Amino acid sequence: MPEQILTRSNLPFTADVERQTRAIYERVRHVIPEVEWPVHAPLIAAINELKRDRNAVILAHNYQTPEIFYGVADYTGDSLGLAQFGAATGADTIVLCGVHFMAETAKILSPDKTVLIPDERAGCSLASSITGADVRALKARHPGVPVVTYVNTTAEVKAESDICCTSANAVKVVDSLGVDEVIFIPDQFLGRHVASRTKVRLILWEGACEVHERFSGQELRDFRQQHPGIHVMAHPECPPDVLAEADYVGSTTAMIQHVADARPREVAMITECSMAGNVAAEFPDVRFIQPCNLCPHMKRITLDKILACLQAGRPVVEVDPAVAVRAKQALDRMLAVGRDAKPGPAPGGID
Ligand code: 13P
Ligand code: SF4
Repeated sequence: MPEQILTRSNLPFTADVERQTRAIYERVRHVIPEVEWPVHAPLIAAINELKRDRNAVILAHNYQTPEIFYGVADYTGDSLGLAQFGAATGADTIVLCGVHFMAETAKILSPDKTVLIPDERAGCSLASSITGADVRALKARHPGVPVVTYVNTTAEVKAESDICCTSANAVKVVDSLGVDEVIFIPDQFLGRHVASRTKVRLILWEGACEVHERFSGQELRDFRQQHPGIHVMAHPECPPDVLAEADYVGSTTAMIQHVADARPREVAMITECSMAGNVAAEFPDVRFIQPCNLCPHMKRITLDKILACLQAGRPVVEVDPAVAVRAKQALDRMLAVGRDAKPGPAPGGID
């Protein structure tokens, strides 16, 4: 008899499922109403069982929704953390719950593993803002100037680069090169933020994140008026007028760590919406105030698609081996540099 395909419609919320997922629910009860749990729990139980059967690990970015982040992920983190974990895991299969460049990075670092992404249409406006040909043209215009590439790019772009960086180590990576000038691609706002913290001159590209570029400094000033004393944290992909209004700027993981260390009473996280939900589940004493913007690409990943992808063993992420070898050099150089010692306060802000 053919194996039954498991879907939401044939997975009931039984007493056994309730028991298996009770501890998980206790972690998210602050952000997921109890009436919603029967919708998620059967999928969570089925995914966790399949994961064990297939010797698979699930890596989830900090922007994944709480039922994924707390329900099924074996490792959660920012782009740098996902790359580090992906390079080190002993599992046969990696399911990357995030966007396509993150899954490609995992495949480049672990070429012998099967890397799956639950929805291969999960793109990124930064990754689609620049091509390998664009990088070759930049290098021809600035001969001998090293190329520092944000990981939010395709494998082809990484392959044209000297070294990669993430928002967790961009300043450290730029400074590590010991040069006066670098080509920094593709995020102009991250680039301007890095330029404010280094003596190295940055030649920038005009890419931007469609989620973070929508915030404005005025929005933050209005929030401060409505919530006096609020602690404002922002991702460095935001425009400069937003970062100038923030108290703290850092990668997604750096922001989580900052909440854990500083325990502000009221926080605005100027980034993707699911971040605040995930952090609020961990710190129920901290009050999280919107605004936030949704990343439509990150939100393509759902429990239903994770279940389908684990059962079918696809979509599989493949990278042309000739491209992957060159891209891996740029990623390995970044991994050797590691994380910024302490992501700092905002340019005009307090830490
Ligand atoms: P982090 O590396 O800070 O998690 O950011 C990734 C990203 O896509 C932000 O929009
Ligand atoms: Fe890309 Fe922005 Fe979405 Fe991050 S939030 S994946 S940078 S579009």
